[in-house]
Amino acid sequence: MRVDIVTIFPEFFGVLDVSLLGRARREQLLELHVHDLREHTHDRHRTVDDTPYGGGAGMVMRPEPWGEAFDALLGEGESDAVVVFPTPAGVPFTQSLARELAEESRLIFACGRYEGIDARVAEHVATRARVIEVSLGDYVLNGGEVAAMAMIEAIGRLVPGVVGNPASLVEESHEDGLLEHPSYTKPAVWRGLEVPEVLRGGNHGAIAAWRREQALERTRRVRPDLLPADGADA
Ligand code: ADE
Repeated sequence: MRVDIVTIFPEFFGVLDVSLLGRARREQLLELHVHDLREHTHDRHRTVDDTPYGGGAGMVMRPEPWGEAFDALLGEGESDAVVVFPTPAGVPFTQSLARELAEESRLIFACGRYEGIDARVAEHVATRARVIEVSLGDYVLNGGEVAAMAMIEAIGRLVPGVVGNPASLVEESHEDGLLEHPSYTKPAVWRGLEVPEVLRGGNHGAIAAWRREQALERTRRVRPDLLPADGADA
């Protein structure tokens, strides 16, 4: 998979060289390119923003540098890339969207700052590629960079080969629509707290049943919105 990121803060993405994604990058399972939006400005101050039409607080990113950046990335004609605009006004980012995007061969993340990017940019890009506006959650970050990083990590780890043991991907929160059961390791007793008896026996059926019950209980308690409305088990 190839991932391009356009940002005015390329240095944010240094962490992509660390840990699993760093290794995936070195092993060429993920090809990541970070582009500085200011390379597409032509004034002395390398201006990327301006005041909003209609008034209001804050600044809006001007369309011209973005237009040039996308011309350079998408080339002529239609592109098979999916262009992601991180924004609190987008559709929620979920594990199922991560799975869907992990199937793509090319993603482009357009990281806005300030009060966002002039709306014509997404409209224009949509004539050449699939565009989605995606929110990390119902809160406001200072820009799209941290959101893009979170999405790239969630998507990247689903690309085959990135996580060494693929079985570990299916035993996680949100993969089966539930939160994950609690996990324990050695020692069996720590500061007076015991690992549940059932996990210490070798009865795999009983362990699976206990884990499912724990997952359901935790989901009911913490995230009842994830369960079907009729109260049936997921
Ligand atoms: N940019 C600012 N806030 C954001 C959010 N919650 N999700 C995605 N992008 C953002």
